[in-house]
Amino acid sequence: MVNIIHDKDADMAALEGKTVAVIGYGSQGSAQAQMMKGSGVNVIIGETEELGGSANPSWTKAKEDGFEVMTISDAAAKADIIHMLLPDEFHGPVYKGQIEQHMKAGKVLSCSHGFNIVYKQIVPPSEVDVIMVAPKAPATEELKAYKAGFGVPGLVAVGTDASGKARDIALGMAKAMRFTKAGVLECTFEQETYEDLFGEQNVLCGGTVDLVKYGFEVLTEAGYPPEMAYFECLHELKLIVDLIYEGGIQKMNAVISNTAEFGEYYNGPKIIGPEVKEKMKESLKRIEDGSFAKDWLAENAAGKPNLLKKREELGSHPIEVVGRKIRALFEK
Ligand code: NAI
Ligand code: MG
Repeated sequence: MVNIIHDKDADMAALEGKTVAVIGYGSQGSAQAQMMKGSGVNVIIGETEELGGSANPSWTKAKEDGFEVMTISDAAAKADIIHMLLPDEFHGPVYKGQIEQHMKAGKVLSCSHGFNIVYKQIVPPSEVDVIMVAPKAPATEELKAYKAGFGVPGLVAVGTDASGKARDIALGMAKAMRFTKAGVLECTFEQETYEDLFGEQNVLCGGTVDLVKYGFEVLTEAGYPPEMAYFECLHELKLIVDLIYEGGIQKMNAVISNTAEFGEYYNGPKIIGPEVKEKMKESLKRIEDGSFAKDWLAENAAGKPNLLKKREELGSHPIEVVGRKIRALFEK
């Protein structure tokens, strides 16, 4: 059983007198910086003034939100805790160029996703604490929950405990962001990284998206109206997932018709059969042995050609074309 930590088992005292540099003021950076600052933590922002030759809106936004903003290198030099919230594919080069030289004994390197530590894109010196503090929610949700006085669930992990205080600091940060109000799961860097990649590739993003697209294609290719196929295979998915989220699969089954529930048992295993489980096992192996990470890093090194091509192709898939039309009709 994983250890679940609540407010009473975490203490913000570990952060007293310390400065946290949030590196990257994007989705997670802006939310996490505001939450920690709101709880009285001394937070500064490390950002890049220009990105790709033009002014970086994140730099301006951090200033507007009342933060002291400086270059990533200056923030890493000044702070005790360096909390990296850049897109994962930039952690390695940014760390090597702007952070590594400041990582002396007493510093803490922190992140919200273990990819770069686990796959060794970042190799911190052994005298530095390495921790992970991560929300199990998108940025908009966590900030909303924080402002309402509670929090979203989170994860903490300790990679290296050089100071003997690494866990206390991670829990202090989690408490400052009110994750401990909902509950924080204590895990390892490997567990978080492998499970996160597995979930998004097999169930949440890869998996669901392909299921939705196939359903839509089969109906429309058989001559059914695309607008109806869109509602059936995409729009209604949210209603079903909301019920599962609220009360599990049994709650969803209690709400849908008996016909739908019988159909679930009758046809579900014919569509997602044991061969899918075998493929999922292969996917987990590719994640654990580093093959996926190697492919993703190579894709980045080449300028993301496949990602960009797929992204563009998806935009002209009929389900996206009809979806844009329908959502516009239903907007007020
Ligand atoms: P993001 O895409 O919002 O970007 C953060 C900021 O990084 C941007 O505002 C930009 O100013 C800066 N940036 C972008 N490219 C850069 C570059 N080449 N060099 C320097 N700075 C650059 O990032 P997001 O989605 O907030 O992810 C940050 C971290 O949080 C990642 O490690 C991610 O895995 C983790 N995370 C994200 C979640 C989410 O819901 N988005 C949920 C949990 C964890
Ligand atoms: Mg995830």
